[in-house]
Amino acid sequence: MEDQLTKPKQYKLSLKHTQYVYDESDLSLQMVSFFEDKHIPEIVKLSFFDFLFNQDTDLKDILNHYFDHLDETATFTPLFIVNERLQEMVVILADLRFPPDQPGEYGSILGFVRKSFYGEEFLCSDCSGQLSCSSCAVEVVKGKPSNFEMRDEEYDMLSIDPEMIPTAFSRLSCQTIVGDEPLMILIKQYG
Ligand code: FES
Repeated sequence: MEDQLTKPKQYKLSLKHTQYVYDESDLSLQMVSFFEDKHIPEIVKLSFFDFLFNQDTDLKDILNHYFDHLDETATFTPLFIVNERLQEMVVILADLRFPPDQPGEYGSILGFVRKSFYGEEFLCSDCSGQLSCSSCAVEVVKGKPSNFEMRDEEYDMLSIDPEMIPTAFSRLSCQTIVGDEPLMILIKQYG
């Protein structure tokens, strides 16, 4: 059994403009292709690849292997979460064997964020996952969650804040369940 109290390794980077040109031959083609998407800001891709090559981290090897073996059974799903206000991105290797049972739905994005010890300053959850606010709203711009179709209650709650205009990618992170597809998630800055 995993020690639930052990703090998972944190991978966090600042978004910054960089002239960095990555060495494609050293990255999984599937990973490069995942990031080459019009909904993923260029600064996110460049900052992330810069981080992989220039920080002393095991993440490049882990993700290269993951994306090269997408058809095989993986025990985790990568979550790439960008906070627009903080200009930060975190990468969570969501362990599907031990989905968090709260806050919100079992195995939710918000649950994995909290399990990785990222708090309210990174992703708000005013009602603690009770589906009675919209503070945990995110945009899942790439990848399909396990519950791709949202319930009416979630849809309704996404519209209660006049400052927040939902898009086709909008979800409540406490209601959105991580599946076996990697997800690119944006925490938008409103107002
Ligand atoms: S935290 Fe309130 S609906 Fe998700």
